[in-house]
Amino acid sequence: MNDTKILVTGGAGFIGSHLTKELVKRGYQVVVLDNLSRNVNHVEDLWKEGEIKFLKGDIREKAHVLTAMKGVDYVFHQAAACLNRCKAFPKEAIEVNLEGSYNVFGAAIHENVKKVIYASTSSVYGQPNYLPMDEKHPTNAREPYGATKLCVDKFMEFLSAKHGLKYIGFRYFNVYGTYQSVDAYYTSVINIFIKRILNGQSPRINGDGEQSMDFTHVSDVVAANIAALNSDVENEMFNVGYGQENSLKMLANFILTYLGSDLKPEFIPREILVSRRRCDNSKLKKLLRVECKIDLETGLKELVEHVKKYPEIY
Ligand SMILES: NC(=O)c1ccc[n+]([C@@H]2O[C@H](COP(=O)([O-])OP(=O)(O)OC[C@H]3O[C@@H](n4cnc5c(N)ncnc54)[C@H](O)[C@@H]3O)[C@@H](O)[C@H]2O)c1
Repeated sequence: MNDTKILVTGGAGFIGSHLTKELVKRGYQVVVLDNLSRNVNHVEDLWKEGEIKFLKGDIREKAHVLTAMKGVDYVFHQAAACLNRCKAFPKEAIEVNLEGSYNVFGAAIHENVKKVIYASTSSVYGQPNYLPMDEKHPTNAREPYGATKLCVDKFMEFLSAKHGLKYIGFRYFNVYGTYQSVDAYYTSVINIFIKRILNGQSPRINGDGEQSMDFTHVSDVVAANIAALNSDVENEMFNVGYGQENSLKMLANFILTYLGSDLKPEFIPREILVSRRRCDNSKLKKLLRVECKIDLETGLKELVEHVKKYPEIY
């Protein structure tokens, strides 16, 4: 076993659990801090097998964060209130995403952590002014999730300059994969489509289906995080996205065809918050040497098979 001790906040969730599993595979000592607010723990088996330390705690509580941070070398900060929750409860966005992150960064400074690698989001960019979106794209966030995440990015710059805290921030684009919750981010739509089609129901698309996303497989997000851990690069923000634009109509039709279904998508008139997404990932490739590898077809087939095999998870 490696002597390096790593804290993963939000490690019981979708991205955090994939990351935790990879860190354990690589022999790191992993501590997970998660309040289980999603009522699932995707690292429960690892915890029961004694492969990780699991602390049920809340990043809003300084004492919980300080306990989890004891003796930690590196932090992967993933815990957050998701997009849909932030829209419904904006104050929670401030308390969890902003104040909670401030607690995590403060405890990392206190414990002399070597580097904090944390999850930001492409939502800080809001509606696109141009595509593909690079890291210099204006930050047009107009909703509580993107706004608080942007504020975290700014606070990190401040804390890093003031206290020498080293960091890498990742602006993830439309992450999807196994174990994702069905009510979280724009990409939850994939799991909802799959479930409906498997139940013999048409996939329902808000708007005309021409809105696009840059679907990014969770294993590519994990690879970016691992690269940040092993790299000397510090104090930089990176986009993490596959770099391809796909419409929701195309997504629904792909899943229908793959499942051999004759159903047709249903279109529901509704306001669309973000109309298009495509990531410019050249900085990630250049500085961290990470290439997103999993194309949508491969990732979707894996996910559909997982939903079929373990419907109770979704
Ligand atoms: N999934 C995406 O498409 C996407 C896109 C961009 C950015 N992100 C960011 O990536 C990170 C991980 O996202 P995810 O998709 O795995 O979300 P998730 O909701 O599956 O996981 C988040 C985890 O954090 C935990 N958590 C929430 N509030 C907490 C609190 N107050 N204290 C402790 N734990 C708490 C939850 O219980 C959950 O296990 C988040 O910061 C999110 O904003 C995700």
